[in-house]
Amino acid sequence: MPTKIEKDIVSGQDTTGHEWDGIKELDTPVPRWWWYTLWATVVFAAVYVVLYPAILPGGATPGILGWSQYKVLAEDQAAASSAQKGMRDKIAGADLAVISSDADMLNFAMAGGRAAFGDNCAPCHGSGAQGFPGYPNLNDDEWLWGGKLADITTTIRFGIRASHEESRSSEMPAFGVDEMLDAKQIDAVADYVLSLTSGSAATGPGAEIFKENCVACHGDKAQGDKEQGAPSLKDAVWLYGGDKATVVQTINGSRKGVMPAWAGRLDEATIKSLAVYVHSLGGGE
Ligand code: HEC
Ligand code: HEC
Repeated sequence: MPTKIEKDIVSGQDTTGHEWDGIKELDTPVPRWWWYTLWATVVFAAVYVVLYPAILPGGATPGILGWSQYKVLAEDQAAASSAQKGMRDKIAGADLAVISSDADMLNFAMAGGRAAFGDNCAPCHGSGAQGFPGYPNLNDDEWLWGGKLADITTTIRFGIRASHEESRSSEMPAFGVDEMLDAKQIDAVADYVLSLTSGSAATGPGAEIFKENCVACHGDKAQGDKEQGAPSLKDAVWLYGGDKATVVQTINGSRKGVMPAWAGRLDEATIKSLAVYVHSLGGGE
């Protein structure tokens, strides 16, 4: 059937000549605003491609403004670290007591301390600072070297039996290996040590051996000595373990746990933040 163009009587528009069941399709032109919008987007795209990075058929172009997401990221990072720098400098120079009494500094130090703990300390002390045999739990209020802010800072800064010249250090003798006590004596003193946690200390040869060999570090009541990092032996908190075989092993060969020094590896603000964080874990004195 040949197409017959005719005008619609009501609107005055041409029809396309298509007709379905008596309904004729009008040939209405695309509205102007639509063309304007289309051309506007074309112009926008052309300008954008000149100014900003784009991928064209010939390859990628950087755009004449020189904008890039890498630059924006670098600027944002620089802005963030200069915003942090003020606070980090403040913490580095502040007294520990001042840090923990100033809400802003404390918040900042806690957040920084938590992050630094995860990065540096968790491998040995556990992600929740719960410790492992030989690696003390830092959540409890049992301290080898002291739980005051200043003590914790010193431990972190200089380490324990570490290579730093100001490191904390002490050495429990290896009583068996160095033949200071024989196996029978070690067995007896181990029994004595184990009796301490039960509340009623045993008497007999074990007690005598303890008095002669152990009180210099562990104290006359086995209460421990933080000057020497010697743990209390009468609480039920064990660094290495409280079963007889482990206690015998400790007395026989000694342990000499090593904690690295962090001075020089972590900056002052980080060390102080870590101290504040560890102190807050529950057992801070
Ligand atoms: C390589 C393992 C290791 C790493 C890493 C380590 N520590 Fe230790 N830390 C130890 C050992 C072992 C001891 C106990 C040493 C001893 O027997 O006196 C210890 C002891 C401590 C103590 C003393 C606890 C007390 O009872 O007095 C503190 C505080 C401490 N660590 C904090 C930290 C912090 C904070 C970090 C991260 C910056 C860290 N440690 C990283 C192994 C480690
Ligand atoms: C020169 C000081 C010193 C003397 C003397 C000493 N100790 Fe120790 N002892 C320590 C230190 C320090 C530790 C901490 C462990 C380490 O070396 O990492 C320790 C740890 C222990 C532990 C492990 C405790 C735990 O929580 O797992 C036992 C048990 C122990 N000593 C028993 C003894 C007995 C028994 C004697 C005497 C025969 C003795 N010590 C003499 C310094 C001493």
